[in-house]
Amino acid sequence: MNKTLFPQHGANMGQPVPRYEGRAKVTGEARYPSDVRLPRTAYAYLHISRIGRGTVQAFDLAAASAVPGVIDILTHETIGDQIKQTPAIYQGGYASDSFRPLGSAEIAYWGQPVAVVIAETYEAAREAAHRIGVTYGPHSPPAADMDSPDAVAQALVPMAIDVGDFDAAYAAAPIKIDARYSTPAQHQNPMELFATQCMWEGGRLVVHEPSQYVNSVKFGLAEQLGIDPERIRVISTYVGGAFGAKGFLTQRTALVAIAARRIGRPVKLVATREQGFTVSGYRAETRQHVQLAAEQDGRLIALKHEGWELTSRADTVAMGAVSMTTRLYACANIVGRVNAVSADRSTPGFMRAPGEMPYGFALETALDELSSKLDMDPVELRRVNDTRTEPVGGLPYTSRSLMRCFDEAAAAFGWQDRTRQPGSMRDGDWLVGWGCASAFYPTQAGNSAARVRLTADGRVHVSSAGHELGQGMYTMMAQVAAEELGVPIERVTVSLGDSDLPPAVVSGGSAATASVAPAIMAACDAIRRRLGVGNSPPAGVRAAMEASGMGVIEEFAETRAHGLPLESVRDMYRGKALPTGGVSLPDRVQFALGAQFVEVRVHALTHEIRVSRAVGAFAAGRIINPRTAHGQLIGGMIWGISSALHEHTEVDGRNASYINANLADYLLPVNADIVDIQAIMVPEEDKLVNRAGVKGVGEIGVVGVAAAVSNAVFHATGRRLRDLPIRIEHVM
Ligand code: MOS
Repeated sequence: MNKTLFPQHGANMGQPVPRYEGRAKVTGEARYPSDVRLPRTAYAYLHISRIGRGTVQAFDLAAASAVPGVIDILTHETIGDQIKQTPAIYQGGYASDSFRPLGSAEIAYWGQPVAVVIAETYEAAREAAHRIGVTYGPHSPPAADMDSPDAVAQALVPMAIDVGDFDAAYAAAPIKIDARYSTPAQHQNPMELFATQCMWEGGRLVVHEPSQYVNSVKFGLAEQLGIDPERIRVISTYVGGAFGAKGFLTQRTALVAIAARRIGRPVKLVATREQGFTVSGYRAETRQHVQLAAEQDGRLIALKHEGWELTSRADTVAMGAVSMTTRLYACANIVGRVNAVSADRSTPGFMRAPGEMPYGFALETALDELSSKLDMDPVELRRVNDTRTEPVGGLPYTSRSLMRCFDEAAAAFGWQDRTRQPGSMRDGDWLVGWGCASAFYPTQAGNSAARVRLTADGRVHVSSAGHELGQGMYTMMAQVAAEELGVPIERVTVSLGDSDLPPAVVSGGSAATASVAPAIMAACDAIRRRLGVGNSPPAGVRAAMEASGMGVIEEFAETRAHGLPLESVRDMYRGKALPTGGVSLPDRVQFALGAQFVEVRVHALTHEIRVSRAVGAFAAGRIINPRTAHGQLIGGMIWGISSALHEHTEVDGRNASYINANLADYLLPVNADIVDIQAIMVPEEDKLVNRAGVKGVGEIGVVGVAAAVSNAVFHATGRRLRDLPIRIEHVM
C-alpha cells in the first residue's frame, strides 16, 4: 500500500491496483473505436441545419456531387423511409431522442443532420458537405430558451412530492428563505469525438462506436433498420470519455449503417466538435425556486423545491432531482415540483450527476442562506437536520454517513478556524471565503451478467458487456475476479464493451460496478461450488483446480439487482437493463453521501475569483479500488469547480445555435485553475445496497461543489450569488 498516494485507504476498501489498461493507453496500443482500421473505408461528413426551426424546401447537391471522390449523399429525399422510428429511452425505447434521422423535411433544432456526404476521403466528404446548398422554407425565429414567448412549460405531475402541509407550516414559521436560482446549459465535451464505423459482413452489421451502453445501440439500431438484433454487433473496447453523452443510441449510427449498406463498404464518421453539441444530449439549463422554513434552532419545518428544465419539443425530458433534494434532511412539510419547458432545441440528456448537480446547487445554497440568517454554522445546520429515515416515504437509509463526511472534511480543511462574518478573512488584497455543502447521489444498480473462465494453469478470464469509460471498469472486473478466486491479478484478463458478451447495464447512473461486480461474484461462486471449495478461503481455489484434473471451468451468472421482477431480466437481454434504486425501492432509500469544503479568493481590486483549496469527503460503501475511485472523485470535484466558475453553453437567441460550440470558447478549467484538491474516502460498510456493498462514485464528486463555491464567495464578499456560472462581473 502506498500510504503517500492513498493516505485515506481504510476499512472496506480493496487494493489500489494500477489500471489494467494503463499500459495500452499510454503506449497507444489501445484502439479506440475510431482507431480501428477497416478495409476500403469510405468517410462520412454531416451537414447540419443552420436554422432553429422550419423546413428544408430544396437541396442543391450539384456542387457537392462534383467534388472528386464523392460517392453518395444522403438526405431525407434520397433515403426515403429506410430508417424507421424508434422511441427515446424516456418512452421506454433505446434512443437518446425521438427524432428520426433524416426523417422528413422538418427542422426541429439548430444542428439537426440534414444531409450526409460519403466520399473516398475525409477531406472530400468535408468539402462536399460545405458545398451542399439548402433552401429553407419561410421560418420565424425559434424559441431558443425558457424566456422565449413560445416556449411551453408543462408541470410533470408524476414527479410531484407532497408531504404534510407546506403552506401552513411555511406561513407560521419564524425563519424563512425564499430564493430563485439558475444553472446554464452545459455540454459533456468528452475528449473523444462522436465517432461511428459501420461494416456489413455477410449480412451482419458490425458497429465500432464509443458507448456507455452497447446493447442500447444494438437493439435500437435493429428497430431502426428493421433487422434481427442478432445481426448487429456493437464494439466499444475503449471510450475516450462519455459523462452521459454516450449513454444511448444517437441518430448518427443509423445514418452510417445505411450508408455502408448502400455503398457496400465500411463507412466512418467522426462528427466535429461543433456537431457534437447536438449529436447527443446535454445538461439543460434550469431555473429553480427554493423555500425553506426553520425553527430558531435550525430545525427545518418546511421545504419546497420547484424546478424548470429546458427540453425539446419532441421529448419531455426532466432530471427532476427534487426526488433527491426532498429526501436529504428531516422535515415534516415538503413540496417538490418539476416542470419541463419545451423550446426549439435538441433533446437534452444526461451529464454527470444530471439532476443532482443543478438541484443540489440550489438546495445547498439555500441552506447556506438559512444558516447565515440563523447565524449558525452551516455544518451544524446539517447536523441538526440529520436523519436516519428519509422524510418523504419514511423509509430507512441503508446507511448514512453524512455527518462523518462533514466531520472528516472539516477537520482536514481546518474549518474550526473560520470566522463567521462575511469579508472577515482577508489576506492582503484577497478576500478569502470558506463554504461547504452536502454531496449526494442515489445508489442504483441494474441486472447484469458475467462469464468467468478458470483454467488449470491458474488463469482467469472474465467477460461482460460493461464499458471502460476511463473510470476503471477493466481494473474493477479483474480485481473482483482475482479476489473471489484467490489468483494474482496479473493472471486475470478481461473482455468488455462488446454486445456479443453477456449483457450488462448501461455504464451510467454510477451503477456499473454495483451491477457488474455482483454478477462476477456469482460466477466465481459457481466455480468454487464446482471445485467443492465453497466459501473457503479463495487461496484454496488454485489447489483444488490442480487436484480436480479439470482443464477449464467456465461459469456464467446473472444477477437481479434489488430483486427486480423476472421481466426485468428479460429486459436485460433486450438491452433495457436500466439501473434502478436510489429512491425508487419499496422498503429503503440508498444514497452515497459526502461533504464538500471550498476556499475561494476574490481579489479586492480585480475581482478575479480563484478556488484555492477544495476538500471533499465521501462515504460510498465498499471501494473496490481506491486508486480509480479517487480519480473519479477528484475528477468530479474539478468538474464542480468548472460548473461553478467556467462552463456555460451560450445560446444565440436568433437561431437557437450554440455560440461557443468548441473547446476554445467553451470555458474549462486548466491546471492553473485547480490548485489543491483533496478527496477523502470515508470507510463505510453497507450490506443492503447490493451484494458487492458498492454505492458507486462516478457522479457524487461533482455534487455540491458549485454550492460550496457560491457559499464561499458569499463568505468572502457578502454577495449572495444564485446563478451559475459565477463570473467576475457578478462580484464587482
Ligand atoms: Mo452518467 S450522466 O449517468 O453517464
